Amino acid sequence: VRILVIHGPNLNLLGKREPEIYGTTTLADINRQLSELAKQYSVELDFIQSNHEGEIIDRIHTARESADGILINPGAYTHYSIAIRDALSAVSIPAVEVHLSNIHAREEFRKQSVVAPVVIGQISGFGEHSYALGLLALIEHLKRPGT
Ligand code: DQA
Repeated sequence: VRILVIHGPNLNLLGKREPEIYGTTTLADINRQLSELAKQYSVELDFIQSNHEGEIIDRIHTARESADGILINPGAYTHYSIAIRDALSAVSIPAVEVHLSNIHAREEFRKQSVVAPVVIGQISGFGEHSYALGLLALIEHLKRPGT
């Protein structure tokens, strides 16, 4: 099993960016934690972080040949990128959406996720643990017969 982990815009600044909201853990720390977890389940991970919508879309397309599942934090694109939503929908690779913060408990504009209807599910509000929980949920889904 191979999973593509996509970190969207501004997540390269994790650890420094609004730590009261997003915590002090860096993206490298999160990727390390995910790699350890993946090893326990004999799952391979590929990572990308991009601040560019088109690049994220291109990677979702190439995942057709290279990934069984996608773990994605689309950052602010969550709230308005119909193009990322359409890409996820087009490739029909099982995907899980994660957010560090609870997007439903913040500004009004963050409450809507245009991506949510095309993913298996969303995990939001558990800080860095959202990623680990999302990865476990995705692995469990992929292990289910018939997926
Ligand atoms: C985020 C929430 C988004 O609203 C925000 O634009 C981000 C990060 C999160 O992980 O909590 O960039 O996706």
